[in-house]
Amino acid sequence: MPGYSELYDRWRSNRLGYWEAEASSIDWDAPWGAVFGEQSGPYGRWFPGARLNTSANCLDRHVGAGAGERPALVWDSAMTGEQITFTYRQLRDRVAKLAGALAAEGVRRGDRVVIYMPMVPEAAVAMLACARLGAVHSVVFGGFAATELAARIDATRPRVVVAASCGLEPGRVVAYKPILDAALDLASHAPSACFTLQRPQLVADLEPGRDHDLLAVERAARPHDPVSVAATDPLYILHTSGTTGNPKGIVRDNGGHAVALAASIPTIFGLRPGDVFWAASDVGWVVGHSYIVYAPLLAGLTTIMYEGKPVGTPDASAFWEVVSRHRVNVLFTAPTAIRAIRREDPGLAQRAGRDLTTLQAVFLAGERCDPATATWLQERLDIPVIDNWWQTETGWPITARFRGLGLTPFKPGSGGRPGPGYEVCAIDDDGTELPSGSSGNLALRLPLPPGCAPTLWNDDEGYAEAYLDAFPGWYRTGDGGHVDADGDVWVLGRTDDVINVAGHRFSTGAIEEVLAVHPDVAECAVIGTADALKGELPLGLVVLKASAADRDHDDVTRELVELVRARVGAVASFRTALVVAQLPKTRSGKILRRTLRQLADGEQVQVPPTIEDPAVVDRLRAVLARSASGHG
Ligand code: COA
Ligand code: AMP
Repeated sequence: MPGYSELYDRWRSNRLGYWEAEASSIDWDAPWGAVFGEQSGPYGRWFPGARLNTSANCLDRHVGAGAGERPALVWDSAMTGEQITFTYRQLRDRVAKLAGALAAEGVRRGDRVVIYMPMVPEAAVAMLACARLGAVHSVVFGGFAATELAARIDATRPRVVVAASCGLEPGRVVAYKPILDAALDLASHAPSACFTLQRPQLVADLEPGRDHDLLAVERAARPHDPVSVAATDPLYILHTSGTTGNPKGIVRDNGGHAVALAASIPTIFGLRPGDVFWAASDVGWVVGHSYIVYAPLLAGLTTIMYEGKPVGTPDASAFWEVVSRHRVNVLFTAPTAIRAIRREDPGLAQRAGRDLTTLQAVFLAGERCDPATATWLQERLDIPVIDNWWQTETGWPITARFRGLGLTPFKPGSGGRPGPGYEVCAIDDDGTELPSGSSGNLALRLPLPPGCAPTLWNDDEGYAEAYLDAFPGWYRTGDGGHVDADGDVWVLGRTDDVINVAGHRFSTGAIEEVLAVHPDVAECAVIGTADALKGELPLGLVVLKASAADRDHDDVTRELVELVRARVGAVASFRTALVVAQLPKTRSGKILRRTLRQLADGEQVQVPPTIEDPAVVDRLRAVLARSASGHG
């Protein structure tokens, strides 16, 4: 392998030729007309004219090459104590059968299938079965409530929903089926069938006619061959939070995605076929799509799928137990998980007795990694700890330290350098490109590389508006930060109203919409406040209607917390709402969220000159200080 600089320069000097060469790692059914078609989509499309099947590239190709008996997916559940290994051949056979069952229900190329499942192997089987048919999956994270699920069902209009009867959280069984039933009652679209995986921990009632037992239909089905699709056909839709209450339907194509993810395994992660890769995330998030399912299988690795938490299932040794049991080579997780382990086991004593000799590196992403956490882990494990920055939209790391290309220096707090395909620049609000060291809006030069979202579901215009219009020729990431003189990128946080809770992305606007539904709330604002474990936590500030002036504030808070759990989901970790007399606003009525954030984090706030009533800030400061000291 060449070094980082050599490969990056190779890409810079021949941006299309570079990806054309990378595309040779994929099996195509028909070649592309052009490597990149500038005319279609908001900024162009990769490999137009080419045809392939992603599921065949993940499975059949390896079986055909004689690797059928290699472990493809190992499921390890700390919740049930089970471990199951699927070889490439076994996984291919299950995927082909479930594809047959979906096809028998009428699912064809281009049809959508919603998947609402916890971390069970059937979730990966369902994703790959959709890919086999050229159907478009839309996975909804299991921690989302019925309202969020219903919104995604209406946005994607699936022919079939694939779900599980329950998920297993520490200390409780989460009944998924009633959530799905409630979502289907709320949604205006009705799928023609629901396949339910009946887990023994909680068997669901099935509605005759509509609901089918997933394993029964899979067993009864005839295996389905891969369907050849266009490289530009959508492989999946994944909704993520934007700045408004409506989530964005991120679209991933088939061809560019396969090329980019396959290329990322040797260069970024430094792994080869047969190596063991564990992304401790969830299939409901982009990390789960890319690095639990697609990339490891495209590259012929063994992927670990873990149902459990970093702590509490049963303790802070859980990760080291999985690493040693399955001889994991690279672990990918979120900084929050490491902070949770560090809090419980500051000396990393609970790794004792676990053989970690196979572990070569830990990759951290999903949120900014504070330098203390990165340094703590690297010193204790004595292997590279690699921060990498990306987002649902890009689908794979924008920046990292490249294990396969000779590591660039460890700079705790930095996301590393851009990989081939990405040129990163900080741009000021007026669109001026800033020199190294100056902070601004982080942007990526167009075109984005293969694998990045080419558009939003049914919404080219929305894509352009959200990402392209602000800085012509650039993609706006929504993150702020700077690029240093060595080319390392420092990401400081979002520049919009998106917050990051335990590596999960939420829109403060979406939570505000829920608070506003409460009959006693006149006005509200939700902000992210710093949290030592989860990075950020949402905090609601509400002004009550005059008619509710006598209400007990603790009662209102409890009702608001319940409302958010019921409408967004427990995973938003919304636990605090404060009743305040007023919110700081500009004279034109805009709520000053930045000022609120600073106040909540205890920063010294300069009262903005545009503020309508400067005294509001002092009153808020007092309320927030009281709440922080527990006298709320
Ligand atoms: N289905 C149903 N509920 C879920 C869920 C799921 N798939 N995932 C989380 N929840 C619920 C939890 O049960 C919890 O509910 P509670 O409020 O009743 O206790 C709530 O959502 C918050 O969950 P979580 O974020 O897991 O917080 P926690 O306090 O239970 O655990 C950590 C803290 C740090 C251990 C946990 O946040 C964690 O593992 N973080 C790593 C995140 C990660 O891997 N992100 C991937 C991005 S790459
Ligand atoms: P998501 O789309 O849910 O993956 O969230 C993406 C957002 O998480 C990014 O826009 C960043 O704000 C944040 N993020 C992800 N990885 C990093 C990282 N390594 N450093 C800083 N921020 C990150």
